[in-house]
Amino acid sequence: MTKWSPNSWRAKPIQQVPSYPDMAALEDVEARLATFPPLVFAGEARKLKKQLASVANGEAFLLQGGDCAESFAEHGADNIRDFFRVFLQMSVVLTFAGSQPVVKVGRIAGQFAKPRSSDVEAKGDVTLPSYRGDIINGIEFDEKSRIPDPARQEMAYRQSAATLNLLRAFAQGGYASLENVHKWMLGFVADSPQAAKYEALANRITETMDFMRAVGITSETNFALRETDFYTSHEALLLGYEQALTRVDSTSGDWYATSGHMIWIGDRTRQPDHAHIEYCRGIKNPLGLKCGPSLTPDGLLQLIDQLNPENEAGRLTLIARFGADKVGDHLPKLVRAVEKEGRKVVWSCDPMHGNTITAAGYKTRPFDRILKEVQSFFEVHRAEGTHPGGIHVEMTGNNVTECTGGARAIRDEELQDRYHTHCDPRLNADQAVELAFLVSDLLKKTQAPAAKKAANG
Ligand code: PEP
Ligand code: CO
Repeated sequence: MTKWSPNSWRAKPIQQVPSYPDMAALEDVEARLATFPPLVFAGEARKLKKQLASVANGEAFLLQGGDCAESFAEHGADNIRDFFRVFLQMSVVLTFAGSQPVVKVGRIAGQFAKPRSSDVEAKGDVTLPSYRGDIINGIEFDEKSRIPDPARQEMAYRQSAATLNLLRAFAQGGYASLENVHKWMLGFVADSPQAAKYEALANRITETMDFMRAVGITSETNFALRETDFYTSHEALLLGYEQALTRVDSTSGDWYATSGHMIWIGDRTRQPDHAHIEYCRGIKNPLGLKCGPSLTPDGLLQLIDQLNPENEAGRLTLIARFGADKVGDHLPKLVRAVEKEGRKVVWSCDPMHGNTITAAGYKTRPFDRILKEVQSFFEVHRAEGTHPGGIHVEMTGNNVTECTGGARAIRDEELQDRYHTHCDPRLNADQAVELAFLVSDLLKKTQAPAAKKAANG
């Protein structure tokens, strides 16, 4: 294998690159970004890797979620708080059900670049370059907006920094304290079908906390009740940006991506001899790899060799995204290959990207398909005796109408009401919490046989 460096990807073939008309301006921005402070630190990425190692060992569950594409337009504090609140609610539901720690990783503070299935978008008789995410070009359907603009990279960096700053404050400044488990409820619209269920769970948590307080364990004395670890992640698609934020960790001498704690490789850019795999193999962060229907068991093992040659638990999360009807055809083969070779990975389920359809002129995802993919994922792992390690979802804290179905039964005709996503359809707050409750039922079923086995020695 050739020697890795932060720019060795540049010698490889690459997919999904924007064509910047002004290369001098691009180089300028990349050079400037390279002088800016890191967004995250190597020690944090190592801590996440350790937590993911416990997921790989079957001792924790991974919740990864957020926007399909963050946008410059939606960057208010309320937006970030609402997302974080729903994320905490989901994680409390999952922690309670699984009696396991939930590793919390947002698709946030850097999730700006999007792979597209077509380079162009046509409307009527006008054809323009596709929108590739706010870090590259604008979503407005006019010629000027669609020109890739390097200055957007600096805006994305600054927005990521501001978002991360608020998230750190929420995670460590008291908002995430379990004492607030009832306050997170305030986000529910009054008639939400999930509200009563959530309140019942919050009551049980409060009761437990009251008991713990009585025996001297309080949020003042115990930081685990008061704070939480929250990590950031995004698809490492725009490699010039990633390279500019790739830094040597002074304590270990290793290279880290400092654009986010975890980065992942998309289903369209995982060719073993191409640029994205080359870049990712050399950094030490935890990595995600999207696994879609075109991935074969041998192809997967080859990628694992490249990305995790030392077989380090927590380094690699395989994010299965096949489509509800295809999980049964594809996942068992991959799980068996990985098990047979003794590779340590986290298996996570992305029930979004294989279940996108068009209805009433909108890209949407039916909630029952999303749920069915998660169910099939759990069934496969139960049958193979492996750990269904986590879920990876596109969600928002807002009351959007982008995915159909759910307890509130959003219909095709209602998609137009609040369809705000810049890219793929997201679960709204209700649907996200509903999914967490349904996954919690699956987790309980998974835990039951394990607990029985443990009790019987
Ligand atoms: C995504 O996660 O938004 C995405 C594009 O996924 P995939 O690479 O799995 O298609
Ligand atoms: Co998406």
